Amino acid sequence: MSVDKFTVMTLMMCREMKGSDMNKGVHANPFGNAELIATYAENTPRKVPGLADLHRMTMLLLQEQANSDARILVVGAGGGLEVKAIGEAQPGWAFVGVDPSAAMLDLARRNVGSIADRVQFIEGTVDAAPVEAFDGATCLLTLHFLDKEERLHTLTEIQRRLKPGARLVVAHHSAGRDDAVGWLTRSAAFADRADQFGEQAAASGRAMAKSLPLLSPHEEEELLREAGFVDVELFYAAFSFRGWVVSRSLQ
Ligand SMILES: C[S@@+](CC[C@H](N)C(=O)[O-])C[C@H]1O[C@@H](n2cnc3c(N)ncnc32)[C@H](O)[C@@H]1O
Repeated sequence: MSVDKFTVMTLMMCREMKGSDMNKGVHANPFGNAELIATYAENTPRKVPGLADLHRMTMLLLQEQANSDARILVVGAGGGLEVKAIGEAQPGWAFVGVDPSAAMLDLARRNVGSIADRVQFIEGTVDAAPVEAFDGATCLLTLHFLDKEERLHTLTEIQRRLKPGARLVVAHHSAGRDDAVGWLTRSAAFADRADQFGEQAAASGRAMAKSLPLLSPHEEEELLREAGFVDVELFYAAFSFRGWVVSRSLQ
């Protein structure tokens, strides 16, 4: 049984990521697949339950600790979906978006439209972001592609770039080894807009569980704390997706 077309996208992303040399710091454009990128902006809102609301919740959570002229770091900014949504809601905010995929950044530049003059895109990982202090940060739909070591590095470097008390919002697939197939199957069925959880969704769930370096929600929270974040709180849960808001400590 083949997997659905939305899962194919996720698996392609994961395969291209593993094929790249990310852990050695050589970021070889892992998200360069033309077909995937051409459909990214259209397909992602269908794959992620409540994506527009996730963007709005992210903006509101950041806003609680950020002024009207805030500078926001967006890690994994390719596609530009969250930059556009948050930037339109906050006309005084400026953004630095980093992503190792030049092709995904090109798509982001095309998608951000009227807020382009408030966005600086940089090709690279968080290491390429300026070390100046940011008033908030996001890392959406990205961390589930990174193995634990690369995630810890990414989170630690985001934390270092935030002002004391500033917030980070993350959201991505998260599931424990025992329940990953079940929850990813439900996400695949949601993405496929199938009326029932058929064998294709189950095949997708199994394929994603095998390919993605998923962490359980408990492991995610431990990693966020290990990276130096405090006040770790879950705010979003939708089938296999989870979102947390965390803060840099005040010291
Ligand atoms: C599924 S896309 C999510 C893009 C966007 N955040 C969104 O929510 O639509 C994952 C993105 O993460 C980027 N990425 C991969 N490895 C990364 C890393 N180590 N640091 C930052 N971004 C990375 C990919 O190039 C890709 O653009």
